[in-house]
Amino acid sequence: MDVKGLVLSGGAGTRLRPITHTRAKQLVPVAGKPVLFYGLEAMAEAGIKQVGIIIGDTGDEIRAAVGDGSQFGLEVTFIPQDAPRGLAHAVLTAEEFIGDSAFCMYLGDNLLRDGVAGFVDKFRAGTADAMILLQHVPNPSEYGVAELDASGAVKQLVEKPKEPKSDLALVGVYLFTSSIFDAAKKLEPSWRGEYEITDAIQGLVDSGLRVEPHVVTGWWKDTGQLADMLEANRLVLDAIETDIQGDVVDTKIEGRVVIQAGATVERCHIRGPVVICSGATVRDAYIGPYSAISEDAHVERAEMEHAILLERSSIIGIDTRIEDSLIGADCQIRRSDAIRSANRLLVGDGSRIEIL
Ligand code: TTP
Repeated sequence: MDVKGLVLSGGAGTRLRPITHTRAKQLVPVAGKPVLFYGLEAMAEAGIKQVGIIIGDTGDEIRAAVGDGSQFGLEVTFIPQDAPRGLAHAVLTAEEFIGDSAFCMYLGDNLLRDGVAGFVDKFRAGTADAMILLQHVPNPSEYGVAELDASGAVKQLVEKPKEPKSDLALVGVYLFTSSIFDAAKKLEPSWRGEYEITDAIQGLVDSGLRVEPHVVTGWWKDTGQLADMLEANRLVLDAIETDIQGDVVDTKIEGRVVIQAGATVERCHIRGPVVICSGATVRDAYIGPYSAISEDAHVERAEMEHAILLERSSIIGIDTRIEDSLIGADCQIRRSDAIRSANRLLVGDGSRIEIL
């Protein structure tokens, strides 16, 4: 069975503001690599060749980062969506690209430890009309939730229910045949004004088609919010292997650490897992577990831990440790020379800063 890929990389990204004022959330790096790239790699690993990427306002940035897809061994087609009107609307936007193929739909801000190859193989080998991936979660009312019947078949799907009927959340990966298009065309917008994929799948169930549930056991993260983004960073960093290519001088390194070629690390204490990307300079600093320092960033006379520092940003001369933080690109965090004790800030809309 030919299976195409459909990666959703439009959307508004309101929950990750202010980072998403200026960049696509799918391009925020996790352990030094854009979230979206993990999804594209998972597609290639599953033997999928043709991938459509749904893009919105941040389309140009996504196009520039992904190119023609050959860096992943994929043939990528970009599919503009006029506005983020819901996941089922994104599916309909891709109808011409998908044709009558089966397809694997992947939310571009999701990460799965074990990729999708196992599920795609199972779908190829079976006769189901759709396959949904589920995971037990402690807070189901924040997700689309599936209720299964006694035989384990899908009974009902509800988007963010106030009183969830199970703890099985829908993971952001779905396998469909072209039957999903008819179901999506019948939808009305939900209470939040979106065409919901859960409603379209419910349509398949109601018309007697086979929707196979599959419980995912390896970790899964939807990186739509800060805490999830940091957790994804932690989970990916947990699996890195030491690889030191950059220039390292008078530095104590503990645990697993990646220092890419072109990075400079001098007189530091680095306690892994940590990734320091090329062009970054880190001097007289402590970099603690679960930190990721992006290209051309700069840390000097400072301490950071469990934090992501994006491209070209700098942290200089800060006495208190920076923790649990996501710092955007081109930011400067530095010690003030002022005699009075005061904080001077130039902060973008929607930022969050906690000061001791
Ligand atoms: P969501 O995280 O559900 O939505 P969002 O990106 O609009 O974020 P927020 O709720 O914080 O405003 O989207 C999941 C993925 O699907 C994400 O990669 C964006 C993408 N998407 C589209 O491509 N088109 C759409 O119409 C929607 C709603 C999402």
